[in-house]
Amino acid sequence: MKILINGGAGYIGSHTTVELYNAGHTPIIVDNFSNSERWIIDRIEQITDKRPAVYEGDCTDTNFMNEVFTKEKDIEGVIHFTAFKAVGESVEKPIPYYKNNINSLLTVLEVMQNYNVQNIVFSSSATVYGEPDTNPLTEISPRKEAINPYGNTKLIAEDILKDLATSGANIKTIPLRYFNPIGAHESHLIGELPSGVPSNLVPYITQTAAGLRDELTIFGDDYNTPDGTCLRDFIHVVDLAKAHIATLEYLDKQTAPFFDVFNVGTGNGTSVMELINTFEKVNNVKVKYVIGPRRTGDVESCWADTKKINDTMNWKSEKSISEAMKDSWKWQKTL
Ligand code: UD1
Repeated sequence: MKILINGGAGYIGSHTTVELYNAGHTPIIVDNFSNSERWIIDRIEQITDKRPAVYEGDCTDTNFMNEVFTKEKDIEGVIHFTAFKAVGESVEKPIPYYKNNINSLLTVLEVMQNYNVQNIVFSSSATVYGEPDTNPLTEISPRKEAINPYGNTKLIAEDILKDLATSGANIKTIPLRYFNPIGAHESHLIGELPSGVPSNLVPYITQTAAGLRDELTIFGDDYNTPDGTCLRDFIHVVDLAKAHIATLEYLDKQTAPFFDVFNVGTGNGTSVMELINTFEKVNNVKVKYVIGPRRTGDVESCWADTKKINDTMNWKSEKSISEAMKDSWKWQKTL
C-alpha cells in the first residue's frame, strides 16, 4: 500500500517508515521538521536502501495537503503522527498545542475525504486513561478528564475520529493508544531526538549516562508499588512501529465507516527503578540518580491489557526491556 506518514521524520514515524518498507509498503513522508531532523531521511535510506518521497510542509495547511494528495495520486492510507508532545509545555502554551494537534488532524481528514482515502491510523496515548482505577488497562477502561492540554488533544482527536465514523463518513480509523515507547532501531541509525532537556525518562537516563546531564531525578519513591517508584508499560519502538503496519493491514480489510481503538503495549508493568537497574546492568554503565519529589500529574501505575490487539491483529510485542535499553544506549553514543 502507498501510505502517507505525517510526522514521518519523528521518533515513532521514522521507525514506522522503516517497518513499512520491510513489510513491502511504500511510505511517503510529510514533515515540517519543526521537531525532527532532515538527516533522519538519509538514515532511513541507509537502513532500507530506499528513499521515501518527502513533502516538507505543515499538515494544518489545506493547500499544501491537497497538493500532496494530488501529486501522490493513489494514497491508500495515512498514519498521522503529527503532534506536539511535551506535556509541561502544553500547560504553558495551550494554543499551539490545540492548533497543531487538532487542526492538523481536521485538515488531513478533510483532504482524505476529498480524495476518497479511507484508512487512517492515529497516534493516541495511554494518557487518555488518566489515573487508572485498576491495571492492566483494557480498551473499555474509562477514559478520564485530561489534566493537561496535550492529553486533552488526544481525547478530542479520538472523539473527532469516532464522530466522523458515526456520521457515516467514508472513513476507517483506529487510534492506537501507545504506552511508553523506548529504545531505538537495531542499526542505531535512528532513535529518539529530544529537543532541549528531555522530559521523558529514557532520554534522561541515556543523557545522564553520557555525561550530558549531572544526575537523573527519580520523581518519587513513595508510591504504592513494589519498590515505591512508578510502574509503566515500556514498549520497544520497533514493536510499536510494527503495530502500525498490522493496524493498516487490518483496517484495509474493514468496511467504511469503521472506528475502533487498541492499546499498544507489552502487557507488563516495569518500575522506573527496575528500568534504571536494567540500563546499568545490560550496558555496564552507571547512572547517577537522586530521589526527588513526585512530578505533578504523574500516575502511579499504568500498563496495558494487550489481548484485543493480540487477538484481532495477531500482533504482539517481541523485544525485551533489556534490548530496548541496549539500543537506547548505543543510539545515544552515536549522538
Ligand atoms: C508522559 C506523559 C504522557 C505522554 C508520554 C509521551 C506525563 C505526566 N505524561 O508519560 O502523557 O503520553 O509522556 O511521551 O508527562 N521519570 C523520572 N525522572 C525523569 C523523567 C521521568 O523519574 O527525569 C519517571 C516519571 O515520574 C514516570 C516515568 O519516569 O513515572 C515515565 O515518565 P515519562 O517518560 O515522562 O512518561 P510518562 O509520564 O509515563
